[in-house]
Amino acid sequence: MKIAFFDAKPYDRQAFDRVAGEYGVRMKYYDTKLNADTAQLARGCDGVCVFVNDDVSAPVIDALHEMGVRFVALRCAGFNNVDVRHAFKKLHVVHVPAYSPYAVAEHAMAMLLTSIRRIHKAYNRTREFNFSLGGLTGFDLHGKTVGVVGTGKIGRVFMDICRGFGMQVIAYDKFPAKDSGIEYVELDELFARSDIISLHCPLTEETYHLVNGDSVGRMKKGVVIVNTSRGALIDADALLEGIKARQIGAACLDVYEEESDIFFEDNSGHIMEDDTLARLISMPNVLVTSHQAFLTEEALGNIAETTVKNMLEISESGMCANELCYHCGKTESCRKNRQKKCF
Ligand code: NAI
Repeated sequence: MKIAFFDAKPYDRQAFDRVAGEYGVRMKYYDTKLNADTAQLARGCDGVCVFVNDDVSAPVIDALHEMGVRFVALRCAGFNNVDVRHAFKKLHVVHVPAYSPYAVAEHAMAMLLTSIRRIHKAYNRTREFNFSLGGLTGFDLHGKTVGVVGTGKIGRVFMDICRGFGMQVIAYDKFPAKDSGIEYVELDELFARSDIISLHCPLTEETYHLVNGDSVGRMKKGVVIVNTSRGALIDADALLEGIKARQIGAACLDVYEEESDIFFEDNSGHIMEDDTLARLISMPNVLVTSHQAFLTEEALGNIAETTVKNMLEISESGMCANELCYHCGKTESCRKNRQKKCF
């Protein structure tokens, strides 16, 4: 099996080479992202392997389909960059639903602690033998209320970590987990009560700009917002306004709405074109990491293992438990469930 692997980074090659070799899969690594211009690189391949910022929109799907590519293997959980509806009957789409919720949840807590205890500032100071403490006053997490939006795999690990810190945890989920002991509240109540809000829901039409000018106005003054989920959950301009108005106390962002041409690359020698991001980064109370939450040894190994197995399963039997399909989903009545095949 031959796979066109887009947006390949050195750490991807390391993890995938190990697993792909074991299963006899040939990876053709490309540094470039998948889009309408680069889709031709997949000619002659059985499938493409993509990440969060590759473009798998309708024209790209059509181009891949025309050249005989049979599947898209996402090496991530989120799939908002894939037009799953358009892919139906053209390409199978598989993803990695879970690889290490701990990696992401721990990064969210790492960002929160770094931000509120000013560790990033202290690190820079002591490197220059500046041992003053002015401006480094933080606050205790113990006793604070954290509002978690999305109580899936990552959200739950994050909630457990927060409980370990003695925080009060409230949550909102469109599909609350029954008998979980989680204190669910409506989104408005979560906004009003939370000292810290951490986002762990997927990006959908409903959650797009969940944090916007209006919702920021309904949050507690000084709220800390943590986003390790997807950038477009937050209207970045509204966030910036909230920070300038001192309504938002701090923001920890591992993702950014317009990250696709910026994150994962070394742009240090370039003029930053994105004024909103530049302004956010210039703020003393904003911490940005470059979609790094997943990046642990454990997660990379699990991602490679599951992705390669997904490719083999969908290619050999047309079936894969990790297939994404808008059409049949998991309902009892769907053809896939009855015939064990989608198309
Ligand atoms: P999950 O599918 O286990 O949980 C998502 C939760 O969100 C579910 O409980 C679901 O019911 C809930 N949800 C769905 N629609 C909602 C809505 N409209 N409002 C509120 N809640 C809603 O997913 P998991 O593994 O916990 O991942 C969460 C998100 O984290 C992913 O969607 C992905 O975007 C992001 N992620 C980020 C990574 C990073 O490196 N920064 C790495 C992995 C995932």
